[in-house]
Amino acid sequence: MSGGSRRTTRIRPKPPASGSEPERPSAGRRRERNRDHGPIRLMNVRICTLLGLGFGFLALLLVGFFVYSSGGGSEEELAEARKLMRVVTPLPAPKMMDLPQFQGEHKESLYWGTYRPNVYLGIRARTPKSLIAGLMWIGIKDGQYFLRHVCQDSDGFSTYGWTDHNGRDYGRQKIVDQGLSLTTSFLKEKGHGSGYGGDWAVRINVQNEKLSLEEAELTNAHLFFYLADEGGSILNVVPRKLFNKGALLATGSHKEVGGWELHLKSLDNLEAHHAGFRTRHMHNLTELVQGTLAVYGRRTGQLQLPDASEESSNILIFQISAKLPSSLDIAFVSGTNSKSSRIEERVDSLTGTALTSQLKRKQEEFEEKYLTCFNIKDKVDSEAMAAGKAALGNLLGGIGYFYGQSKISLPKGFKQKDGKDFLLYWPAALFTAVPSRSFFPRGFLWDEGFHQLIIWRWDVKICMDIVGHWLDLINIDGWIPREQILGAEALSKVPEEYVLQHPSNGNPPTLFLLLRDLISNTRMKSFSEKENDEINVFLSRAYIRLGAWFNWFNTTQLGKDTSNFYWHGRDEKTTKELNPKTLTSGLDDYPRASHPNDDERHLDLRCWMLLAANCMRSIGELFETKTSLEKDYHGMAEKLSNFEILNKMHLDDVSGAYFDFGNHTGRFV
Ligand SMILES: *[C@@H]1O[C@H](CO)[C@@H](O)[C@H](O)[C@H]1NC(C)=O
Ligand SMILES: *[C@@H]1O[C@H](CO)[C@@H](O)[C@H](O)[C@H]1NC(C)=O
Ligand SMILES: *[C@@H]1O[C@H](CO)[C@@H](O)[C@H](O)[C@H]1NC(C)=O
Repeated sequence: MSGGSRRTTRIRPKPPASGSEPERPSAGRRRERNRDHGPIRLMNVRICTLLGLGFGFLALLLVGFFVYSSGGGSEEELAEARKLMRVVTPLPAPKMMDLPQFQGEHKESLYWGTYRPNVYLGIRARTPKSLIAGLMWIGIKDGQYFLRHVCQDSDGFSTYGWTDHNGRDYGRQKIVDQGLSLTTSFLKEKGHGSGYGGDWAVRINVQNEKLSLEEAELTNAHLFFYLADEGGSILNVVPRKLFNKGALLATGSHKEVGGWELHLKSLDNLEAHHAGFRTRHMHNLTELVQGTLAVYGRRTGQLQLPDASEESSNILIFQISAKLPSSLDIAFVSGTNSKSSRIEERVDSLTGTALTSQLKRKQEEFEEKYLTCFNIKDKVDSEAMAAGKAALGNLLGGIGYFYGQSKISLPKGFKQKDGKDFLLYWPAALFTAVPSRSFFPRGFLWDEGFHQLIIWRWDVKICMDIVGHWLDLINIDGWIPREQILGAEALSKVPEEYVLQHPSNGNPPTLFLLLRDLISNTRMKSFSEKENDEINVFLSRAYIRLGAWFNWFNTTQLGKDTSNFYWHGRDEKTTKELNPKTLTSGLDDYPRASHPNDDERHLDLRCWMLLAANCMRSIGELFETKTSLEKDYHGMAEKLSNFEILNKMHLDDVSGAYFDFGNHTGRFV
């Protein structure tokens, strides 16, 4: 798939108003909304532009779900309104994530993680109101200062990404920002005395990257490490300007992890400054720091934070300045309010030489597991090996946790009482891998099936946890919103016109690819007995949800006769495209019939339906449901795999190839 088509894969441009240009998301437009951060103008600060970057986020509060049409309440409109309410009604079936296997130790083991893929280094817990941590730094390009934080292609780094990450408690990332090279390592540990979810540490190495001759060598680095409580609890700063070896930076308490402390350790001489803020807005922290630096900079001519905190700050930002090269360790320890919490020992084991050896051991484990897990023999050359590890590391390191509500578009003519043209899906959590940390740092239904083809081999429990979250997003009609924009942080990356999800739009049910693998590998006994049991319990609970999903396709994407399928919703009126796009199919601009109509038959959807029917049949057999439904799946799978029918419907005798069917003309002028 070309870069251009990937860009549109996940976005359904809003149907062009008649006569207007069709909307095609362009990189330029997206950047505009991505709010790429410009240079920090120290002396010539335009505060209004720095602070005025609010993009008019729609208030998320809704009074109620009532919808009305401008015409008044006829029977038809009431029926339509009832249908709309169904869209935001969850499927009444036991939730996947309520399964015992996702509680207890499993849940705690995945509590903390690098679950904020949209920033270069971001840590949070899998809970709606978490403590979040992150890193910013000042980069210099063409003599201008830039604050780095949110992943954005326009930063023009020669590289960034996880060279290794095990998806659980270890990761290492390399970032090269012009003349500055950073390595960030993450390690998590449940020590004796830790609070819920354990402790974690971040090691940051900064050094000069070799430069071209004309550039001056950097001598200093300014790092900004922050901790913020989304729930609004107060964080206490321990003010101190110079650090000799190490110090306590901050303390606080969170209802899930108990008391906590943030420590800094380094053998280098560091200078530190801080700032504290009270705000619930976590999606624009870059602007917050940028604005603060600009204000203080204009007053004092110094590029530093003011060493001041707002009353009851719930966000603390620490500026740590160091001569290059430098290395520092930041340790977060929880459960510090209990007597036997061994704080000092735990901090020691998460910093300095103890951290060095733990990171080394984790790296070796990662490499070993990589070789055995994917059965890699030594004939693979080292470059390919590194690329493979980075691909895996970035897939696992890109896994994020999101919490919020999707916005669902209302049909034309419908509005909420307060004038809004969307409904809110129910509040939900999503644990998911993401297609791109800079462009698409959120969940996409159709990508996820492909991600999981790799993840299940690495860690089947993480895989089931992710798929479980997705399946819990299914509504009573069997529909899952295909692009998940949950929470303000995710929303801040999406142009407004692409936020709404359309309940008539599907997306290929790729999760069945993974389920097929799970089913066949349990049969082949590739898993441990415990894993096998958990997979069976998982599949058994998923059966109803998958059935509803299947049924959504089987009813809404049906062709003229019941054994054929096509992607509904192509625009037959457009005069701007020779082959109207099919964004829902994932193959956006695959050339289908030039004149969309309901005679169409789409080969790819037929294949997805066969895969899905086969999976449903296998799961049914696994649990010997012996229901009529099982016979139905069986019958459909037989019919869809019947070559005589397939040939009749899709084979082109002349070329000997299988095609879509539809009213297509090659005669364009
Ligand atoms: C962050 O966003 C909120 C909500 O849009 C806005 O009120 C606030 O002023 C913004 N903060 C900064 C520093 O831009
Ligand atoms: C799919 O839909 C057809 C009708 O179009 C129906 O006969 C069949 O039973 C459905 N299959 C399942 C498994 O629900
Ligand atoms: C195909 O579409 C063209 C243009 O809309 C129409 O004139 C023609 O009748 C259609 N042919 C068939 C077989 O439907």
